[in-house]
Amino acid sequence: MRRPRPLENLYAPGIERIAPYRPGASPEQAAGGRDPSEFAKLASNENPLGCGPLAARALAGVSPGAVARYPDGDGAALKRALARSLGVEPGHILLGNGSNEVLELVAQLFLGPGVACVYSRHAFVVYRLATLARGARPVEVPDKDFGHDLDAMAAACQDPEVRLAYVANPNNPTGSWHEPKAVRGFLEAVPPGVMVILDEAYHEYVEDGPGDSIGWVAEFDNLMVTRSFSKIHGLAALRIGYGIANPELAGTLNRIRQPFNVNALAQAAARAALEDVEFVARSKEANRDALRKIEGALDRLGIARAPTRANFVMAGFADAAGAYAHLLSDGLITRPLESQGLPGHLRITTGAPEENDRLVASLERAFA
Ligand SMILES: Cc1ncc(COP(=O)(O)O)c(C=O)c1O
Repeated sequence: MRRPRPLENLYAPGIERIAPYRPGASPEQAAGGRDPSEFAKLASNENPLGCGPLAARALAGVSPGAVARYPDGDGAALKRALARSLGVEPGHILLGNGSNEVLELVAQLFLGPGVACVYSRHAFVVYRLATLARGARPVEVPDKDFGHDLDAMAAACQDPEVRLAYVANPNNPTGSWHEPKAVRGFLEAVPPGVMVILDEAYHEYVEDGPGDSIGWVAEFDNLMVTRSFSKIHGLAALRIGYGIANPELAGTLNRIRQPFNVNALAQAAARAALEDVEFVARSKEANRDALRKIEGALDRLGIARAPTRANFVMAGFADAAGAYAHLLSDGLITRPLESQGLPGHLRITTGAPEENDRLVASLERAFA
């Protein structure tokens, strides 16, 4: 019998360099025979408070009949609500299946063989995946103390092959953050023919002047700001996020997305989440308390940590694999960062108060 033709030879260029995305382990995966309910997941930057009561009520109110129908493909009601809350027009908004989809759609629009994409070393891994998946050339600019080197990134954008640049602010997994003035300076330095995505998945957690990046969209036609309902709004499982850009660009991206990319439950919950100002404030306060506790413990124990403005902290260990195993044996799941080029580090997401106490106690047992 003739052997089937090896289809690998036919894959689009770049695909073979993509390593699969490795999500944080779930309690079920990590339990290893123990009761998964004993584990605290501090591995995926989710909201330990769950979602807010208004979103929960909206989800419960979705009827079986509504689930049998396709969702509103335009997400019109949610776009109106977002537009009101952000001070833009609905035409500026692109909804996505998670902000991850928005990051991918922009890559689909601008990248391909023969062009390049700029992002920082140790930036969110999806930038590299999206670049390679389109056969484009990744330009990974060395970080500066785990943050983006915005000057070097702007210089890299002068290369005529560069069509897209990703900036994560705050960045995952390092937690680094750049002042609005620095980000604006970057936008001014980048040629207008380079599209910039300013990824603000953790924006709502930023204390002290997160800045008016959405307002910049009116000034910079090459800017899209992306945000997520997965983080402070606690809707990660529903997969919903959005991008804000000039209406011409948002309209073009709307033409290339799937017709029903955002499901009805996500749309209903996100609309309610926008109204739940009290839950967002409570989540932000809980994160502030948690960071104070965790960062205080790391400092007391002499464990190096990178400054963070998000809902997680990156900590450095002489033996990160050993530290991971120790925390896991105490029922605490953190995120090893070896696959992201940070072998001596773990990323620890803030948990519920009791989980943070367990974390601190476990760190003290191992490192005091
Ligand atoms: C920096 C950053 N951007 C984007 C995302 C994607 O989030 P989502 O697709 O859940 O909106 C994440 C998720 O962890 C992230 O850390």
